[in-house]
Amino acid sequence: MGCFKEVKRDVFANNRLSLILKSTSNTGYLAKFQTQSAPKYAGILYESMIDEEFSRSNEIDKAPRVLAFRKDGMKGNYWEAIKDNDEKREEFHRAMLGQNEMTGGSAVLHHYPWDNISSVVDIGCGIGTFSTPLAKMFPHLRITDQDLPEVLVEAQGVWKKNAPEALLDGRVEFVPLNFLEDAPVVGKDVYYLRHIIHDWHDHEAMTILRNIRKAMRPNSRVLIHDCVLLRTVREPGFGTDGLSTAPEPLLPNFGAGTHRAYQMDMTMWLVHNSKERTLDELKNLGASVGLVLIQVYDLAETMLMEFGIAQS
Ligand SMILES: C[S@@+](CC[C@H](N)C(=O)[O-])C[C@H]1O[C@@H](n2cnc3c(N)ncnc32)[C@H](O)[C@@H]1O
Repeated sequence: MGCFKEVKRDVFANNRLSLILKSTSNTGYLAKFQTQSAPKYAGILYESMIDEEFSRSNEIDKAPRVLAFRKDGMKGNYWEAIKDNDEKREEFHRAMLGQNEMTGGSAVLHHYPWDNISSVVDIGCGIGTFSTPLAKMFPHLRITDQDLPEVLVEAQGVWKKNAPEALLDGRVEFVPLNFLEDAPVVGKDVYYLRHIIHDWHDHEAMTILRNIRKAMRPNSRVLIHDCVLLRTVREPGFGTDGLSTAPEPLLPNFGAGTHRAYQMDMTMWLVHNSKERTLDELKNLGASVGLVLIQVYDLAETMLMEFGIAQS
């Protein structure tokens, strides 16, 4: 399939495709997860769907992954499992970098009007996959990175290496946060969440958004950056919500062209008992905590949904 170059009979060399899958590249970590971990959880999916306890629950602790590990005598959801395991946590954050490279997530740096704002909070920032390049491209921004304490320790190391000038200028601060329990820092222009809401079922997703809503001032914005699942039916109003749709005879959701969003939806189910959402589902989540959708930025593989405070 052209994944390697056959330089002579039975002798293969790397090419541009195989190089990005190398175990030492960020994308390689994502490939490792998708080929080694996810299939293990997928193998138990049917069992989890007919299990009394697991099939009826939306909790993260009842994800197929948890059932798979329970059989091996291990406990805990994904975040608990990587909390005290530096190696696993690093692998996860490298995989997130790989995912960003593969899905072109950095398009957000070019499409949102960052010039017009002055402060950004990266909620669930990981190691700063989004906020480090943001600081480099827009040095006028004041950035707050928020995540669990152990993740922020790692993040600071990455900033020191990749964007030391932002640290020296005091343009970035690190503030630990458990977004299920507390509000982020108050009164900032933008609260940015990439691949956060899709990790959680509706109850927790609402808690996270409600906590952010508490910290917002009247003109603050929430940016949800995730995949959005498109419908396959052309209903009234179809195509007017800011998302691109494919012309006939293609399926309106671009069919296999958007398979990664559906694969991600499955991965979220397997790992976190959560899901990717349609735009209507995201709008409803926002509305349930007093947020209204203002604009959608279609970034091809991922979408950026800009929410503001709803007028009551
Ligand atoms: C899928 S990663 C996304 C990371 C980053 N936003 C990116 O796009 O690369 C989810 C992040 O949420 C963080 N997280 C999980 N539970 C959390 C909690 N209760 N409070 C704060 N952050 C949490 C994880 O540590 C992780 O960095």
